[in-house]
Amino acid sequence: MSIFPFLVGLYASITCSYAADTMSANQTVRYNQTIVSPQETFELGFFSPPNSKNHYVGIWYKKIPKRTYVWVANRNTPLTDTSGELTLTLQGVLILREATKGNVVWSSAKSSITSVKNPIGQLLDTGNFIIHKEGEGTNQEDPIWQSFDFITDTLLPGVKLGWNFITGHERRFTSWKSPDDPAFGEFSYGIDTRGYPQMILMEGQDIKLRGGPWIGFRFSGISTLRPNRFFNFTFVVNQREIYYQYNLIDTSAIMRLVLQASGRFELLLWSDSKQEWNLYSTRQSDICDQYAVCGAFGSCNIGKSPVCECLKGFEPTSPDQWKNTDWSQGCRHTVPLNCSPGEGFNKYTNLKLPDTRGSWYNQTMTLVECEKKCKNNCSCTAYTSSNFSGTGSGCLLWFGGLIDIRTIAESGDTLFIRVSASELDSKSSSAARRVQVIIPIAVVVLVILGSICFFCHFKRKKQQQQGTQSGDEDLELPFFGLSTILKATKSFSINNKLGEGGFGAVYKGVLENGKEIAVKRLAKTSTQGLHEFKNEVISISRLQHRNLVKLLGCCIEGAEVMLIYEYMPNKGLDSFIFDEIPMELVDWPTRYNIIIGIARGLLYLHQDSRLRIIHRDLKVSNILLDKDMIPKISDFGTARAFGGTQTEAKTNRVVGTYGYMAPEYAGNGIFSIKSDVYSFGVLVLEIVSGVKNRGFAHQEHCNNLTGHAWVLHNEDRSLELVARCLAESINMSQVLRSMHVALLCV
Ligand SMILES: *[C@@H]1O[C@H](CO)[C@@H](O)[C@H](O)[C@H]1NC(C)=O
Ligand SMILES: *[C@@H]1O[C@H](CO)[C@@H](O)[C@H](O)[C@H]1NC(C)=O
Ligand SMILES: *[C@@H]1O[C@H](CO)[C@@H](O)[C@H](O)[C@H]1NC(C)=O
Ligand SMILES: *[C@@H]1O[C@H](CO)[C@@H](O)[C@H](O)[C@H]1NC(C)=O
Ligand SMILES: *[C@@H]1O[C@H](CO)[C@@H](O)[C@H](O)[C@H]1NC(C)=O
Ligand SMILES: *[C@@H]1O[C@H](CO)[C@@H](O)[C@H](O)[C@H]1NC(C)=O
Repeated sequence: MSIFPFLVGLYASITCSYAADTMSANQTVRYNQTIVSPQETFELGFFSPPNSKNHYVGIWYKKIPKRTYVWVANRNTPLTDTSGELTLTLQGVLILREATKGNVVWSSAKSSITSVKNPIGQLLDTGNFIIHKEGEGTNQEDPIWQSFDFITDTLLPGVKLGWNFITGHERRFTSWKSPDDPAFGEFSYGIDTRGYPQMILMEGQDIKLRGGPWIGFRFSGISTLRPNRFFNFTFVVNQREIYYQYNLIDTSAIMRLVLQASGRFELLLWSDSKQEWNLYSTRQSDICDQYAVCGAFGSCNIGKSPVCECLKGFEPTSPDQWKNTDWSQGCRHTVPLNCSPGEGFNKYTNLKLPDTRGSWYNQTMTLVECEKKCKNNCSCTAYTSSNFSGTGSGCLLWFGGLIDIRTIAESGDTLFIRVSASELDSKSSSAARRVQVIIPIAVVVLVILGSICFFCHFKRKKQQQQGTQSGDEDLELPFFGLSTILKATKSFSINNKLGEGGFGAVYKGVLENGKEIAVKRLAKTSTQGLHEFKNEVISISRLQHRNLVKLLGCCIEGAEVMLIYEYMPNKGLDSFIFDEIPMELVDWPTRYNIIIGIARGLLYLHQDSRLRIIHRDLKVSNILLDKDMIPKISDFGTARAFGGTQTEAKTNRVVGTYGYMAPEYAGNGIFSIKSDVYSFGVLVLEIVSGVKNRGFAHQEHCNNLTGHAWVLHNEDRSLELVARCLAESINMSQVLRSMHVALLCV
């Protein structure tokens, strides 16, 4: 009984594959037979692409049910029937023969090389098929032949893409003609060595896409390729070779870099749970990735509309065409260069460095030597370091037009561009530069000081004239009488209730003069003395910032303690970013301004105000919006005024909202400005994603929003978190930066 499955297994292995990873001399592999790498990662054999009657010899992933070919031998010379025979000759050459016709359709070497004694063919777990001499081991660096030397459309981890100057061999990849035809397609990708090496995607003879030059530790302008947990990458330039290579850090991951038949360049990651290839990143994400879209001296900025602009000190070569968004003519110097000695270099930052074809480089020079070298050659238009790590080293010079520049806010690089004397940013004397900076600052400071004095004086006078509303002796903060408040809020009518915060309910009110107010009625649990409370409120009322809700006054009568704020007609941020309907109203630029506004307000509370205020309950519903959608933090200082005696050690009532509380605060009641920073991080993630942190649980890993964002960030997939309704309006670099900052905060 039990022997039956064994026999079936044996039978299958005899008919279907050698179940071996090697091929000895004079051995032939036929249709339905395969060679499998030792760990069963890859398999070599005959295949037929979908919707095709042709047959090919290739390598695919053994364990992935969705057939994915990483290498094809006879790309351009398909077999038309199943009579193919792949033989390793005694000379160590792989030959693919069509038995019915007796012709050789493909061979691993054009002419027979010097004969090798006992050659062995072997499929490795890296996906490389190598031919080597028997007994020389499998890890030899230099096999007689290897499939890795002939990349098709897929770059596997560990493969060197580029040039070997010793053999003169170039490895580049070429797309399939179509998803059903592995023949050479239109698109190819490789390292261009006409100047400082850079990676270029070609369509026929045209450049489609240019990876920026390698600047020591990353590529200039490729924001998608960042350190991550799956793989690392390197680019090596020396006398012997120039290559790009990526290696898996997480060896259980299955990744491939593929140039699709459509010309799309995709880094794919196999998902075991979904059983499909997930797009990890692509190099073609926006219009600025198109080669030279803005012409010479033009810079593409995806955050601007239109995307092209001339660099500072440059003007459109043909203004009419430029206006009609035909940027092909590019820009020219506003003041033409004439090789006069006064010419110098202006510094341009946050750029993807221009096309390096025709450039010159030296990896040992310093930046000072580099500037000198560029200055001494009138055709040199720009220079920069070739290695930006550390303090920078090496020299890279450009001659003629600077092409294919883009502006990248968070990961751009610095370039020094030659301009005429009159266009120079500053005189070379640094003293002159310092004076230029100091004078405007001094003027600004004086103006601010002056206006503050004037304002204080004026306000004091006015208040002295008016007296305060409740006749309290204090001159700075109006005290409202309880009767005024009762009248304004219609005796705290439920219809006037705006919400309930950590310290009490909030009511809308209208004063007799028609002014709208918000009244916060504090819960009656404070043990604090009235006098200290008043002092606290007075000092808080002195905090004035555009992004803080203004405290108008307070009311203390008997057990009633109330704070009176200005009324915000647009309510809380929560009613804009989570609700389905008004969602569309708040597009990305508005959200971004809101994020920045909150950050400004918080910075003021934490650092720039006289009192250091820890908010302790920062959350979307505490961010109010005025009629111009300017965010205002509300409820600040309540903790200080109302629960002011609660010190770190004594906090027995943790004030705050679950989902926003920093772990050390929620758990141990320890609070500091860091607790607010944590809440801010959560807030930003919520604004970007339109999802509440609390109550969010990812289907797969049950993470909350912050955990999920962290996972996506590590996989370079942060953009997936962005609220869907924002799709049209997002600015990728702003979104990524916001999420990065948010994660740093949490
Ligand atoms: C190689 O194989 C062919 C056919 O299978 C056979 O005729 C020949 O003798 C073999 N040569 C050697 C040296 O084994
Ligand atoms: C390959 O195997 C399939 C299924 O076992 C069989 O139908 C087919 O005839 C075989 N082809 C050749 C050329 O042996
Ligand atoms: C770039 O500079 C860093 C630090 O100075 C150095 O360690 C590294 O080897 C340099 N890389 C190249 C390619 O010269
Ligand atoms: C990349 O990671 C691999 C595996 O962890 C390591 O052996 C290699 O040295 C790393 N390479 C670089 C350039 O960091
Ligand atoms: C690079 O510059 C250094 C220092 O100026 C010089 O010694 C070296 O010969 C230069 N190398 C090349 C290849 O020009
Ligand atoms: C300036 O550089 C160009 C390009 O490298 C070179 O052909 C030319 O001879 C140089 N001119 C001078 C004066 O060094």
